[in-house]
Amino acid sequence: MIIVTGATGVLNGATVDYLLQRIPAAHLGVSVRDPERAKHLSDQGVRVRRGSYDDPAALRHSFADAEQVLLVSSSDVTADVVTQHRTAIDAAAEAGARRILYTSAHGTGFDTPYPPLAIHAATEQHLAATGVPWTALRNGFYGHPGQLLGRWQETGAITKPADGPFSWVDRRDAAEAAAAILTSDAAFDGPVDLTLPSPVTLADFAAAASEITGRHVERVVVDDEEWVAEEVANGTPEGAARFTLSMFQATRSGHFARSAPMLTQLLGRAPRSIADQLAHRIAV
Ligand SMILES: NC(=O)c1ccc[n+]([C@@H]2O[C@H](COP(=O)([O-])OP(=O)(O)OC[C@H]3O[C@@H](n4cnc5c(N)ncnc54)[C@H](OP(=O)(O)O)[C@@H]3O)[C@@H](O)[C@H]2O)c1
Repeated sequence: MIIVTGATGVLNGATVDYLLQRIPAAHLGVSVRDPERAKHLSDQGVRVRRGSYDDPAALRHSFADAEQVLLVSSSDVTADVVTQHRTAIDAAAEAGARRILYTSAHGTGFDTPYPPLAIHAATEQHLAATGVPWTALRNGFYGHPGQLLGRWQETGAITKPADGPFSWVDRRDAAEAAAAILTSDAAFDGPVDLTLPSPVTLADFAAAASEITGRHVERVVVDDEEWVAEEVANGTPEGAARFTLSMFQATRSGHFARSAPMLTQLLGRAPRSIADQLAHRIAV
């Protein structure tokens, strides 16, 4: 069986949908915090069991019979997420999983100003130490473009601190690639970079937005501290603003400049470009 955690979330929920196109529902299980929210899956014949990264016994029960376990990275900002990930990895190993997969991030490492990357690095270190074959799905950045770009549709400008090249992938593509890896005969060992074929910058987003809307969208670079002050004045907690700033700082150090062909190869087509993703968001 393939067991997926975070199946009531966006990324791994989409991965489950893609898996259901590839394997029978009876070969699929999910480990979720609230089984009521996975009723659409149990209705299709997917095994649904309760599991939380804070409850090792429930996790082991939800991982029973697993050949492969796909772990989502925790979204619980109040928790010690590295401990949560270690708990989940240990439970998967104890349940007898023959491969553990984890939704990591492109550029993972301890040597970056962007804090989540050190969490992923510590998690990958623990995966490597278990002795069970493992795969880290190092996804490029993703999310709602509005969170990245701000109110460009109202203002006609993407007004952010200086940035550098990074990958911005569509979660549907990341999910489809995860399903392809989980159902492949090939072994994907260790980190797998899932990125756009070429990195992008906020200037590229401005160009794509201009092309899609037929209206000039400008990229305006603001000083880091001015931007933080503006965000705080608009009600963003300073810690949250500085967290986002650290992402821009990491991109401009060139940390995310490297791209890999693996996402394209797994999909058998080009990943959705930033223009595709913006057009989709404008349409929905
Ligand atoms: N690469 C990037 O740019 C990027 C951007 C955003 C997020 N992320 C990371 O990628 C992950 C997946 O993204 P997403 O968009 O699918 O986020 P999401 O929709 O918020 O899904 C997160 C999932 O994690 C589950 N979860 C949280 N805490 C848990 C715990 N203690 N035990 C078990 N499950 C737990 C949630 O369960 P419930 O459904 O019960 O809430 C949810 O299903 C996020 O959790 C975050 O770590 C990466």
